[in-house]
Amino acid sequence: MTNSPKAPVSANQMWGGRFASGPDAIMTAINASIGFDKRLYAQDIAGSRAHAAMLAATGILTSSDAEAIGEGLLTVLSEIEAGNFVFSEALEDIHMNVESRLKEIIGEPAGRLHTARSRNDQVAVDFRLWTRDQCDAAISGLTALMQAFLAQAEAGCDWVMPGFTHLQTAQPVTWGHHMLAYVEMLARDKSRFEDARRRMNECPLGAAALAGTSFPIDRHMTASALGFDRPTANSLDSVSDRDFALEFLAASSICAMHLSRFAEELVIWSSAQFRFVRLSDKWTTGSSIMPQKKNPDAAELLRAKLGRILGATVALFTIMKGLALTYSKDMQEDKEQVFDAADTLMLALAAMTGMVGDMTANRDVLAASAASGFSTATDLADWLVRALNLPFRDAHHVTGTLVAMAEKNGCDLPDLSLSDMQSVHAGITTEVYSVLGVQNSVRSRMSYGGTSPTRVAEQVARWKQLLA
Ligand code: ARG
Repeated sequence: MTNSPKAPVSANQMWGGRFASGPDAIMTAINASIGFDKRLYAQDIAGSRAHAAMLAATGILTSSDAEAIGEGLLTVLSEIEAGNFVFSEALEDIHMNVESRLKEIIGEPAGRLHTARSRNDQVAVDFRLWTRDQCDAAISGLTALMQAFLAQAEAGCDWVMPGFTHLQTAQPVTWGHHMLAYVEMLARDKSRFEDARRRMNECPLGAAALAGTSFPIDRHMTASALGFDRPTANSLDSVSDRDFALEFLAASSICAMHLSRFAEELVIWSSAQFRFVRLSDKWTTGSSIMPQKKNPDAAELLRAKLGRILGATVALFTIMKGLALTYSKDMQEDKEQVFDAADTLMLALAAMTGMVGDMTANRDVLAASAASGFSTATDLADWLVRALNLPFRDAHHVTGTLVAMAEKNGCDLPDLSLSDMQSVHAGITTEVYSVLGVQNSVRSRMSYGGTSPTRVAEQVARWKQLLA
């Protein structure tokens, strides 16, 4: 800039050397990202400080210049954090806003910070650092939510409830088992964020515009200063890769899908027709016209949030699709999608954690519902196989006939008399009644991963250890 004194005031002070006029106002509006990428200020300053320190260590900058830059950047940081910083749209983005203010504070050495660097590798490193933090936030949010589900599971290892397929009564299960199903899902979500974090933890800084740099930089030094495992190995890939953001969005989408499924269960379970759970006042709202209402708004919103997160995922895939190497301005559209998805996910995780911690299972209702709908029909068929050595297909048929008989009599399976049962299959004895109760039904499901309270208690113990 000092070498281009003829650049008109209206041209960009960072790159306006060859420009005779400034941009059209609408160009400024479409081009600027400062409105949203100001969120990267801390990462931008950390990246610049690491870069300046490295430039000094390699003799590319004098240590006094690097010190002035490092100190000046801390001043900029405190101004932004205090809310005193004036962001300028004319300066396009966070990178140029920070550098321009640095120039005002420290003068000439500020212009040396951008040696051996480009905004292309700068934004790549800033955004990776930000996304890496969000992976950490998702991991801790998921851990808290898993703990909330685990506490529910521990309290109700042996509470019986209906298990569903097709939302039709299938077989009795235990509350603890149902809660632990979500712990399993969330554990996979967590591992996806851990995995994505590990893969994204390479530092693109030093790729410069796209080809690397002729300056003798030390990329290992900046990589380790910023907590990366290593520098990225290909400069072209470094500035054009947004896989880390896509992986974050994909992991967020799967996680939000899981949240939406439990949200839907809460909506169903808290209805007057089901009454499986009570949601606390903290997570419900009333109606302005119907005084009896307690609406599960938080659960409904959690059911909906995947719409936004998946929308962001599809948007970024669409932005990246077909982009020739390397950087293109299209990629500036990555940030708002990831910002919104991350904000949405963190809020959703916190809300779900609160709701799960607060919800109360109506044990009596669950138990009564578990016993209805011929839920122990499979136990009856299994008994016919075990006790009478019927082939399972025949046992299934006999049981089906008994279910039809109970349905016709308007009763449940345990209410059929022995002679009724024997009219369908002469070999049936009174012993059959022992398998028709829901408690015995769940207790008998002792296979590994099954719903018996014993197995569930073992899994609770395993998860308690894993989450400790
Ligand atoms: N604001 C830009 C972005 O978010 C920074 C990189 C700009 N690079 C460039 N060559 N114009 O992508």
